[in-house]
Amino acid sequence: MGFTDFQRDIYGDAGAPPYSVNLPALEEAARAVMSVEAFQYLAGSAGDEATARANRASFDSWRIVPRMLTGPDDPPSLSVELFGQTYPAPVALAPVAAQTIMHPDGELASALAAASVGLPFVLSSFASHSLESIASVGGPRWFQLYWPFDDELTASLLSRAASSGFSALVVTLDAWVVGFRPRELDLGYNPFLKGIGLATPLSDPVFMGRTAGLSDPDAGKMWASLVQGRAHSWSELEFLRAHWPGPILLKGILHPDDARRAVDHGMDGIIVSNHGGRQLDGAVSSLQALPEVARAVGSQCTVALDSGLRTGADVLKALALGAHFVLLGRPYLWGLALGGEPGVRHVLRSLLADLEVSLALSGRTLSTLAPSDLVRGDGTLW
Ligand code: FNR
Ligand code: LAC
Repeated sequence: MGFTDFQRDIYGDAGAPPYSVNLPALEEAARAVMSVEAFQYLAGSAGDEATARANRASFDSWRIVPRMLTGPDDPPSLSVELFGQTYPAPVALAPVAAQTIMHPDGELASALAAASVGLPFVLSSFASHSLESIASVGGPRWFQLYWPFDDELTASLLSRAASSGFSALVVTLDAWVVGFRPRELDLGYNPFLKGIGLATPLSDPVFMGRTAGLSDPDAGKMWASLVQGRAHSWSELEFLRAHWPGPILLKGILHPDDARRAVDHGMDGIIVSNHGGRQLDGAVSSLQALPEVARAVGSQCTVALDSGLRTGADVLKALALGAHFVLLGRPYLWGLALGGEPGVRHVLRSLLADLEVSLALSGRTLSTLAPSDLVRGDGTLW
C-alpha cells in the first residue's frame, strides 16, 4: 500500500508528527496561529451555518458495512483516471480564494504540496498568485473560473490558463451573488475589498487595460462587479466551450435536472457542491444531493463532490454514493496556516493514508464501491 508509508514513517524514524493526523482537530490549532479576520473568513459559512452543519451530519448519517476474507489480491489501489490522465488518488484540492491571508506562501505552497503527492490543484479566480506563477510549480493544475460579464476578459483568462498548462476548467455557478456570511459581515472583512486575492485580474492585460491606474482595492471592486451580481445562462456555455480546449466541469450543481442540463450542454463533469455551506444557507447537503445526481448522469459525465469532507471514510462514502472523485476544501487550508507547504502535505498524506486503510478495511475496491455498501446509521440494517 502506497500512502500508508505515512503511518510506517510515524511509527518508525520520523516519530510523532508536528500536527494531529485527525484533520478536524487542526481547525482549532490553525485558529491559534491565524488573524481573527483570516480565521473567520476561512471558517465561516452563510446564515446560521445550517447547511455547513448538514454537510457534516450527512456524512455521519451513513455507515459502511465491511466485508471479510476478500481474497489474497494486493490491497486496493487508489489510482484513478480523470479526463484521460491518471492520478494517484481520487482527490483534488478545491479552489479556495486569497490563500496568502492564511500563510504568506499562499497558493504556491498548496500547489507545491499537491504536486508532491500528484493531486490536481484547482486555482481560484480570486487567487493571490498568478496563473503563470502556479504553472512554474509544475504539478497537475486546473483553473477555476469566476465568469466575467466581459467576453474579451474571459477569453484572455482562458487563453492564459490553457497556455500555462491548466488542463481542466472548473466553472463555479453557485456564487454569482456572494452569500450572506455573518462572520465576515460582523468583522466588516472581505479580502478582495482589501486588495488581496486579485492576482488573476491584476496580471491580466485585458483587465489592466480596463482599470486605468485604479488602486488595488478599487480594482478589486471592479473585478468583483465583473464576476458577481448577475447570473449567466445555459446557452452561454457555448462561449466557454469555444474558448477552452479541454474538459469543463460545472461546480455547484445540486439538482438532478441541472446535472442533466450540464450533460445536454456537452459538459465533461459536474461538482456536486454547496460551496462548503458558504452560499445558500438552508441548501441541501451535497452528500444528500449526490445519489439522485449520480443516478441522473453518473454514466454520462464525471461526477465529483465537495463540502464537508474531513476523513478517509467520508471520501469512501462519497465514492460509494456515486462520486468519481472528491475535492478537499478547508482542511488543507488549516495545514497551510499551520505550516505552509509541509503543513498542506501533512494534511494530504493524512487523508490519503486514512482513505487507503479505510478502503482496504471496507473489503471493497474503487471500482466495486456501490451505494449498497452503506446503510443509514439511524435504522435497522436490512
Ligand atoms: C471557497 N470556495 C471557493 N470555491 C470556488 O469555486 N472559488 C473560490 O474562490 C472559493 N473560495 C473559497 C474560499 C474559502 C475560504 C472557502 C472555505 C471555500 C469553495 C470551495 O471550493 C469548496 O467548495 C468548499 O470549501 C468545500 O467545502 P469544505 O471542504 O471546505 O467543507
Ligand atoms: C468564497 C468565494 C470567493 O467562498 O468563493 O469566499
